[in-house]
Amino acid sequence: MSIFDQRTDATLAQLEAEGQYKHLQMLDSPMDAVVRLRQADGSYRDTLCFCSNNYLGLANHPEVVEAGIEGLRKYGAGTASVRFICGTFSPHEQLEETIGRYMGTESSYTFVSCWNATEALFPTFCEAGDVIVSDELNHACIIDSMRLTPVIKKGVKKKVFKHSDMESLKEKLEEAQRDPDISGQVWVVTDGVFSMEGDIAKLAEIRSLCDAFDAKLVVDDSHGHGVMGETGRGTHEYCGLIDKNGMAKVDYFTGTLGKALGGGAGGFIAGPKRGTELVIQRGRPTLFSNALPVTVACSANKAIEILMREPERVKKLRDNTAYARKKITEAGFEVIDSPTAICPIIVGDTAKAISMSKRLLELGVFVIGFGFPVVPEGTARLRIQLSAAHEKAHIDELVGALKKL
Ligand SMILES: Cc1ncc(COP(=O)(O)O)c(C=O)c1O
Repeated sequence: MSIFDQRTDATLAQLEAEGQYKHLQMLDSPMDAVVRLRQADGSYRDTLCFCSNNYLGLANHPEVVEAGIEGLRKYGAGTASVRFICGTFSPHEQLEETIGRYMGTESSYTFVSCWNATEALFPTFCEAGDVIVSDELNHACIIDSMRLTPVIKKGVKKKVFKHSDMESLKEKLEEAQRDPDISGQVWVVTDGVFSMEGDIAKLAEIRSLCDAFDAKLVVDDSHGHGVMGETGRGTHEYCGLIDKNGMAKVDYFTGTLGKALGGGAGGFIAGPKRGTELVIQRGRPTLFSNALPVTVACSANKAIEILMREPERVKKLRDNTAYARKKITEAGFEVIDSPTAICPIIVGDTAKAISMSKRLLELGVFVIGFGFPVVPEGTARLRIQLSAAHEKAHIDELVGALKKL
């Protein structure tokens, strides 16, 4: 057996022994409030889904599905090439215009995922002498993009501030100001909504600090799009960072099309045109990798149009979230408080979180338990995610199942 085969078998066996092996579920239906889930005996069972990021219930919306089908019929599967060689289809151009309008930015550029967009952003934008200052709980794609940047562009520095701690951010910015090696651009990056805690960044305070230190603000709002703010524009809308002309007071966004905005896949960078142009000219993921499939471009464009046309979906999600938080708390569980659609119930022990999630599945409710190392030791949790696709009766069923635990 080769070295790789031996160590991989050992790793997989260890994961299984420690109860951390991820057994993927199989669905035989579209994503919705109720999904058909494969059981151990091979049969399928209708199960309430409370673990998807399908926040607005658009993943299976007839218009979203139809737009994807039309795109496939009209354009086929793709250009079989990267965009700068073979060009792109008009749905990509349309989608990028729609994203800019929705976010309140001058332009946007799409990628096959938000991971890819984030991996393009920092290594392309940063140069020697720049520094990236990041919240310690930022998403893994930001962490990895920060790790990659100094490998591609030597002389880029990194700093991490304590989660949502404005004093800590200010300290890091002051350190950067004193450092003679940091003579270029300062970048501050934060998630809009933090995916494991469900809390939100203090964007207005972060903006003020960025202005005071001449720093550019980058926000990954993958869990904020379609969820936060009166019309679901995102955490910047919730925090009052939209000017009177409807433009975002955030320098650059990264975001996903794989959650509220259609749920298929895809990501984007949104911001001033000079930045998106630089990514087109110089971004390694744009120069060496294919575009978002055109079917996804069509369905994501339709999903954003529906969101802008039907803000009542955002309200329904907000109402569902408030109702669920109230009912779960009344049932005696501790839920981390926030206005987002992510409701983590802290249970402490990893094995306990996993066994609770297994029991919920037996009771017909699909909720995932997250433990160490995804979250800090001792803070294992059940992460409940609400959707506008849920009705109150679904939430009552969820709470009934929780009570049986
Ligand atoms: C905050 C955040 N950013 C980025 C991503 C990655 O998005 P994508 O699936 O489009 O790569 C996720 C997905 O889990 C996320 O939660």
